Amino acid sequence: MSLTASVWMLFFVGLWGRTKPLDNGLARTPTMGWLHWERFMCNTNCDADPDNCISERLYMMMADVMAAEGWREAGYQYVCIDDCWMSKSRDAGGRLQADPRRFPGGIKKLADYVHSKGLKLGIYADVGTSTCAGYPGSLAHYDTDAQTFAEWEVDLLKFDGCSMDTTLLEEGYVNMSKALNRTGRPILYSCEWPLYEWPSQKPNYNTIAETCNQWRNFADAYDSWSSVKSILDWTATHQDIIVPSAGPGGWNDPDMLVIGNFGLSRDQQESQMALWAIMAAPLLMSNDLRSICRHSKELLQNRHIIAISQDELGKQGYRTAKVDHFEVWERPLSQGWLAIAVLNALEIGGPRRFSLKAAPGWKTCTPLCNITQILPQYEEVGVQIGHQVSVNPSGTALLVIMPISMKKHDQRFLKMQWSEKQTLL
Ligand code: GLA
Repeated sequence: MSLTASVWMLFFVGLWGRTKPLDNGLARTPTMGWLHWERFMCNTNCDADPDNCISERLYMMMADVMAAEGWREAGYQYVCIDDCWMSKSRDAGGRLQADPRRFPGGIKKLADYVHSKGLKLGIYADVGTSTCAGYPGSLAHYDTDAQTFAEWEVDLLKFDGCSMDTTLLEEGYVNMSKALNRTGRPILYSCEWPLYEWPSQKPNYNTIAETCNQWRNFADAYDSWSSVKSILDWTATHQDIIVPSAGPGGWNDPDMLVIGNFGLSRDQQESQMALWAIMAAPLLMSNDLRSICRHSKELLQNRHIIAISQDELGKQGYRTAKVDHFEVWERPLSQGWLAIAVLNALEIGGPRRFSLKAAPGWKTCTPLCNITQILPQYEEVGVQIGHQVSVNPSGTALLVIMPISMKKHDQRFLKMQWSEKQTLL
């Protein structure tokens, strides 16, 4: 489909609304929190590496930092366990159990601890016969497992799709959704169903959005720019299919933020943060909050970017242009604002200038726009006809703009800055 056709399609879908999303009252804006996988993986060796192994200590320490260092206030709410928390076998009653050496208190106690910090606890299981790392799967145990998680007072379930006949994915994911619903406890349901379905067939995003609060479409995020770039590319090339299904209650999940680790430069970290906000993606950090550097922390806690991510209109953005090795991405925001990200995709040379007049969204700036630049640094540019941004290789300029049509009722926006809009939220 051509770019113009895509934009029209998104416009019409926007007009006529999406299919009914999962209505469990959760994920009205993209989920924010921390998830252990990318940074800590399946490290179960607590004798050799007690501070970094998958154990209750790790989540307790992360919860402590999240409560003490502004993460919770910034909106990061969920502390999420990924694979490798379980015992290799179920208990005598057929229930999943945490590894007793690494989780001596059990999950219920851990949930109590996390809740006492004003945070929520996420857990991980698998729709098939075993998890991706070989721990017990939930197939044929959906009701028992949902009930167990509810009794433990868990708040989110990441449900993986390993070891499952792909023709049974839909049945499995739908049945677990119903089982969670039957518990009566609101448990945010994070699926990987489309990721596992794509190799055999085009997923039905209507059913997925009716079943899950968020869903992974593409490969796992790694700690590298090539990984982040491949996720962005996949998302842009499939945007006609996936963007319309996103909105309050259900979101496309391009996987974890790897900001604060080892693989991304400062500019690349800014790109990931900006584009994850434009994509209305869950902001699930996988990093070590105990030792994160100041710049990564400030970026992850940047309230202007988080305001874009959490915008109440709940529309996912999309790539609108590729011009001269720049990518332009846009996300419509509430009250007529628009977020624009300009990614310099040329990985050679120095900073390059981009005139926003070349961006398709800029046509809405007729005759003027009120511009606030958020990245690379915050600047209230003000009312302008045009604006040039300078973008480092693999970096991103992020702006919010308010078109001003000069009609009388628009006059009040002439002076309203992005920072004031946020105080109205
Ligand atoms: C899959 C998922 C990852 C992670 C691992 C755990 O690869 O996509 O996000 O949960 O399994 O084994």
